[in-house]
Amino acid sequence: MAEKENKAETAGESYKIIDHSYDTVVVGAGGSGLRATMGSAEAGLKTACITKVFPTRSHTVAAQGGIAASLGNNSPDHWTWHMYDTVKGSDWLGDQDAIEYLVREAPQAVYELEHAGVPFSRNDDGTIYQRPFGGHMQNMGKGPPVQRTCAAADRTGHAMLHALYQQSLKYDADFFIEYFALDLIMENGECRGVIAMCMEDGSIHRFRSHAVVLATGGYGRCYFSATSAHTCTGDGGGMVLRAGLPLQDMEFVQFHPTGIYGAGVLITEGARGEGGYLTNSEGERFMERYAPSAKDLASRDVVSRCMATEIREGRGVGPNKDHIYLHLDHIPADTLAKRLPGITETGKIFAGVDLTREALPVTPTVHYNMGGIPCNYWGEVINPTRKDPDAIVEGLYAVGEAACVSVHGANRLGSNSLIDLVVFGRATGLRLKEKLKPGGAHRALPRDSADLALSRVDHFRGCKGGSPTAGIRMDMQQTMQKHAAVFRDSALLSEGVEAMAKVNASMADVHVTDTSLIWNTDLIETLELDNLLAQAMVTISSAENRKESRGAHMHEDYPDRDDDKWMKHTTAGFDGWGGKKGKVSLGYRPVHDYTLTDEAEYIKPKARVY
Ligand code: FUM
Repeated sequence: MAEKENKAETAGESYKIIDHSYDTVVVGAGGSGLRATMGSAEAGLKTACITKVFPTRSHTVAAQGGIAASLGNNSPDHWTWHMYDTVKGSDWLGDQDAIEYLVREAPQAVYELEHAGVPFSRNDDGTIYQRPFGGHMQNMGKGPPVQRTCAAADRTGHAMLHALYQQSLKYDADFFIEYFALDLIMENGECRGVIAMCMEDGSIHRFRSHAVVLATGGYGRCYFSATSAHTCTGDGGGMVLRAGLPLQDMEFVQFHPTGIYGAGVLITEGARGEGGYLTNSEGERFMERYAPSAKDLASRDVVSRCMATEIREGRGVGPNKDHIYLHLDHIPADTLAKRLPGITETGKIFAGVDLTREALPVTPTVHYNMGGIPCNYWGEVINPTRKDPDAIVEGLYAVGEAACVSVHGANRLGSNSLIDLVVFGRATGLRLKEKLKPGGAHRALPRDSADLALSRVDHFRGCKGGSPTAGIRMDMQQTMQKHAAVFRDSALLSEGVEAMAKVNASMADVHVTDTSLIWNTDLIETLELDNLLAQAMVTISSAENRKESRGAHMHEDYPDRDDDKWMKHTTAGFDGWGGKKGKVSLGYRPVHDYTLTDEAEYIKPKARVY
């Protein structure tokens, strides 16, 4: 694997640089990264997958309830109904060409997973079991709820990740496991590769490649309470910002209605799909009041807001009246054991609750980033220009939660993320097959190809200030939780922008405890924090900038959606790292208000009621 070794002198330190050449380098080994790796390797392209955790520990493993596709096994369904629900769920910020691509490809992608070995739950006739999920309806939104979410009990992501990793091993891809990607190699606006660090020994690896696919997941750990793993630090988003490219729609952060109170651990929406319901301190099933048709299965932004409203108005449960109850105790114990075994266990471990007898304390918890690296449905990264809002960056691709295709717009429907991973992971593999020739010649890399990455490593290793990394991270998480949560207003957001700028500046005083070149634990945490801070900065600034309410962005001073002024994607760049006073620069891209084919009709904006 190692092709060449070099030494680089940076501020007196000597780093061993190991050079590699590939056709494709995928960064991240969750569902989308593995699917793109498979596609690239299957096309005969020399492919590497770099991942900071062992592939089956990637965060896709935590996805529970299922994967959306209009198979129609448990109720009538059609891809146009799935398209309607996704556009409505996105609050008309999703690109309709990309949404059409997603929903049309979805059934085939699920069958592909079935053939790859995903142990889906079954109906009596042997077909894949599908459950209802929030915002998924029959008959172009009219209802009743559709059973569209294909489930492997409540461990769907876990099952998918194992099948995809096994499939990837079948092809000839090289895995660089526990390698941390530091920065992109850019030359004249084109991506030429990526620099990574082997976390075990601190060695620096320079990957030269014709394509880099960022599959680095979301940045949920910007917030204090999140269902995201500690590893969800959006490293690809950080690299993109440092490469001078923008991120898109970062103000749209999804709160999942049912995180376990206090622990933040996910309780799948499948719980409400199987008949679970929410109550307030008066024992009222309050969702019936807010969403008379879909009730507890309204879309996530709606349910989270209703829960937050109940709590704000004094009808929360518990001694501090600050959470809500989720009831599953009326569901037969054998159904819970068959359909929801994972959360039955999670309820016991993290809340001390026996779901078969008692209600579970839950609260809206950060779960997903609708925003990310702008790209088209082939995974090609976009750097909009005035002349061409869809201009692509040669050599750079993004997939999964790291990307903003944009199919989720201002709010993602539950179970649309797993399908996004495999549909767009596959599409990117197909694009690579079309654009690259296996073993194509490489040009020499620019002389400064490792400078940015090495200067950051060198800088942070030398940081011996007075602020521990964990302390700055806590300040960031509490600031974001306070200033950019379910309800926002002008004062809260502008104070948040200032507060985040201060937290970001405190990085200049960070103290990194690692003492030698092979000791990297605190260094990696600090590099991750640097990625998180940049994304927190663009998130809060984009939120402050958007003067309307749409999807997950509920601005109380502008409570209505304003399609005339705001039906557009936000783009946001940030030019600082390591506590430097960077500037957030905001811009816009038009939403694609056209479909992919004439078989789908453009879905016109209207009021979003459930
Ligand atoms: O609720 C859940 O099972 C999560 C699914 C999703 O975010 O798509």
